[in-house]
Amino acid sequence: MAAEIEVLNLKKKFGRVIAIKNINLKIKKGEFLVLLGPSGCGKTTTLRCIAGLEKPDEGKIFINEKDVTNLPPSKRNLSMVFQNYAVFPHMTVRKNIEFGLRIKKFDKEEIENRVKKSAELLKIDELLERYPSQLSGGQRQRVAIARAIATHPEILLLDEPLSNLDALLRLKMRAELKKLHRDTGTTTVYVTHDQVEALSLGDRIAVMFDGEIVQIDTPRRIYDFPVNVKVGGFIGTPPMNFLKAVVEEENILIDKFKIKINRDAKRLKAGETIIGIRAENIKVYKNPDKGDLKAEVVVSEPLGSNNLLTLRIGEEILKVITEPDLTFKTQEIISISFNPEKIRFFDPETGEATDVVSPE
Ligand SMILES: Nc1ncnc2c1ncn2[C@@H]1O[C@H](COP(=O)(O)OP(=O)(O)OP(=O)(O)O)[C@@H](O)[C@H]1O
Ligand SMILES: [Mg+2]
Repeated sequence: MAAEIEVLNLKKKFGRVIAIKNINLKIKKGEFLVLLGPSGCGKTTTLRCIAGLEKPDEGKIFINEKDVTNLPPSKRNLSMVFQNYAVFPHMTVRKNIEFGLRIKKFDKEEIENRVKKSAELLKIDELLERYPSQLSGGQRQRVAIARAIATHPEILLLDEPLSNLDALLRLKMRAELKKLHRDTGTTTVYVTHDQVEALSLGDRIAVMFDGEIVQIDTPRRIYDFPVNVKVGGFIGTPPMNFLKAVVEEENILIDKFKIKINRDAKRLKAGETIIGIRAENIKVYKNPDKGDLKAEVVVSEPLGSNNLLTLRIGEEILKVITEPDLTFKTQEIISISFNPEKIRFFDPETGEATDVVSPE
């Protein structure tokens, strides 16, 4: 079971703080949508409005085309898992999972069945008689999720469900959540400020800044075609590099170097621009004369599967990923070339992309 959600012109203030400026959002049946953005951008508020825990100042929320704006959470057939895991400490795991089912007055057999099924899905069926204090953080979080899915909601709302877990456990739970979504097909709205989590989980990502969605698209397209420097600078490890440059017919000038743009240059406005290029789309040559641009090595960080180089070109700093067995010394002069297909252009004044060609 899965539902479709539509958020229309949503606005919400807390006193003088504008939490949500204006949000429009359509979430498809069975979709895994991630709300991604920095702390305080309004993710939780948006989710709480969808849940019915927060009353919007303006705007409407539809679930399966029905206006639910004034309905209480219990009438929306959804479950929510909160930012700091809310399991009841005085109840066993079993009682925790049963909680919502008892409220909905299911019969004993159905309750037992559903507890068993959701505990199995979350791999906590061995832990049913334990109390939350006898569980690890990851296990506790699984209980919260098992409780949320036991009622067979049409919509699952997850607010940073992995934020309290250590890095390794996050990685594991991330994969498990993805599998859980595949198994249940429940429409899921997932809030996080962790862009790696967003890229890995989302069918689509809605990137939020200051109470607004600035871009909504598939992870791939958001990564490849950020709508502005803010999005490009927020997504990716390391984030996108930005360099001042000048477009001149079929060339881009960076510092004093010329790079030939090997593609339809007619679309580009001549004059000052900002180019964006990701670390993995820059090729590094030990030979300082081989590439298009000379650069100086500032730092070289071996990261196991690759090397992360910090380079300087004139006054600009650039992050580049290279193969792990290429080694560099500080202050070494090397050269680099950009993959011309992967260069993005942004307006130096507004920071907005000037060549968004996000292919459908
Ligand atoms: N109950 C409240 N009373 C007053 N201000 C609030 C309330 N809830 C949220 N805010 C404010 O609204 C803005 C958005 O908050 P929200 O919790 O939605 O952000 P968030 O994106 O979830 O952030 P985080 O990643 O830190 O959880 C913030 O400036 C916050 O301080
Ligand atoms: Mg939040």
